[in-house]
Amino acid sequence: MEAELEKIISFDTKEEELAFEGLRPKEFKNFIGQEKIKENLLIHIDAVKGRQENLEHLLFYGPPGLGKTTIANIVAHEMGVNFKITSGPAIERPGDLAAILTNLKKNDVLFIDEIHRLNRVVEEVLYPAMEDFGLDIVIGKGPSARSIRLDLPKFTLVGATTRIGQISSPLRDRFGIVSRLEFYNSQALKKIVRHAAQILKIKIDDEGAAEIAKRSRGTPRIANRLLRRVRDFAQVKFSGEINQEVAAKALAGLEIDELGLDKIDRKILGAIIQKFSGGPVGVDSLAASIQEDSLTVEDVYEPYLLQLGFIERTPRGRVASAAAYKHLGIMPKKTEKEKQAGLF
Ligand SMILES: Nc1ncnc2c1ncn2[C@@H]1O[C@H](COP(=O)(O)OP(=O)(O)O)[C@@H](O)[C@H]1O
Ligand SMILES: [Mg+2]
Repeated sequence: MEAELEKIISFDTKEEELAFEGLRPKEFKNFIGQEKIKENLLIHIDAVKGRQENLEHLLFYGPPGLGKTTIANIVAHEMGVNFKITSGPAIERPGDLAAILTNLKKNDVLFIDEIHRLNRVVEEVLYPAMEDFGLDIVIGKGPSARSIRLDLPKFTLVGATTRIGQISSPLRDRFGIVSRLEFYNSQALKKIVRHAAQILKIKIDDEGAAEIAKRSRGTPRIANRLLRRVRDFAQVKFSGEINQEVAAKALAGLEIDELGLDKIDRKILGAIIQKFSGGPVGVDSLAASIQEDSLTVEDVYEPYLLQLGFIERTPRGRVASAAAYKHLGIMPKKTEKEKQAGLF
């Protein structure tokens, strides 16, 4: 169970990407939600196709599982060009990036996932490549060394990151379109669940899909995972068909509550409230107190808790809101002021 839970919100693994490959929409018409982003991209794609130009460089940011990789894929598909995929940490040296860039064809989409993790020297190779489609290489050594510039095909860089704050401004400024992905509402998630069920040939009724959608933390990747877990449960303990009752029981078994919060979410809230008297507490102390990694707390857990209004970020750290106390069924302590005023 513990391992299962870990998987539910951790970053995607290679195997999972493969397992989900069939679920990834290939065209915007099957991509549900994120209407504003979709609309803007479609206009831009139409316009550059008309002018036979290359697409601007695009940067997508937001919590994991909201569709950054999927959109990058769709953009290449809609443009009818190749899609090359790599990631910030995979590009270790400038030479690695040079090899990738010189192998691109005109209009190709180069996708760099976790682009905030590019190292400085590699990033500097990217600047002229993005701006002038040029690659500077140094030939020779010592006093006779000289730099020559190679022309690159006009490609489109698509970057994705969970941490927009860690992207240097020179890099960020070189993207023509910067879009933030939002959490999905339960209606959109319900459509995603129904669509995935159809592809996976899972029998599910409307209320069953709604139940999974409601508990998916606004995140398509989680909706897809939960659907598969609930399918197992339905098959082993019920007739195989998913309805509201089956979904609710299966999700309760996975310790996912009505708002989609799991054990670790509740541990985070519980720690702020009980170990740190409601906060403020810095993310490092908070993460250490529940033996989690602070990057995971910040990137994976916090965004949804912030969205629910269960925690607030203050300059002195994280604070639990009254709603968080209520959700955990804990009475808030009176503040000094309230005690003096004789409130409550
Ligand atoms: N808008 C959407 N409609 C349908 N499925 C989606 C949508 N966004 C994401 N998904 C599904 O969720 C999974 C995670 O999306 P992904 O693009 O990998 O997220 P990210 O790159 O932001 O972490 C994908 O496998 C895809 O099947
Ligand atoms: Mg991704």
